[in-house]
Amino acid sequence: MIAIYPGSFDPITLGHLDLINRSSILFDQIIVAVLKNPNKKPLFTIEKRIQQIKDCTKNISNVEVDSFSGLTVEYAKMKQAGVLLRGLRVMSDFEQELQMAHINKTLENKIETIFLATNTELSFISSSVVKEIAKFGGSVEHLVTPNIAQDLYSINNYSCP
Ligand code: PNS
Repeated sequence: MIAIYPGSFDPITLGHLDLINRSSILFDQIIVAVLKNPNKKPLFTIEKRIQQIKDCTKNISNVEVDSFSGLTVEYAKMKQAGVLLRGLRVMSDFEQELQMAHINKTLENKIETIFLATNTELSFISSSVVKEIAKFGGSVEHLVTPNIAQDLYSINNYSCP
């Protein structure tokens, strides 16, 4: 079974990575799919985010990294995937994620959304928090991989705190 893990990944965090690691055991193939979203102003370009994800998943043989635009279910159908993967960190995630799962189900009944609970120790991490900490000069080494921490430090023009 092929599973799509869609998201913005701006940037990918240790929480995302944990979910990719754990789901790679459950599915034949995981496609990490970065949404090209014209409504958002990302910190990192699509190309950079793809490269960051490829770098930190290079040791997981059944992970592919791609980008897409438009509806996630249409992309999943094109890739012949049966599952959309999403992580749940806290209760407040659930409301929006459940709505998204219902919407996707009405759009394509054959594709299931499967939620994985985020590792407890990583459940406070979000890409937005990572960007905010880095912007104000704080350390993000415990939140993202070393390469991505470097990317954040260089975008914000300071060296590792
Ligand atoms: O990492 P994010 O920003 O929480 O990911 C959200 C994402 C990309 C999964 C969601 O916005 C999405 O699937 N967008 C594509 C458009 C779509 O399919 N919309 C219908 C479901 S709401």
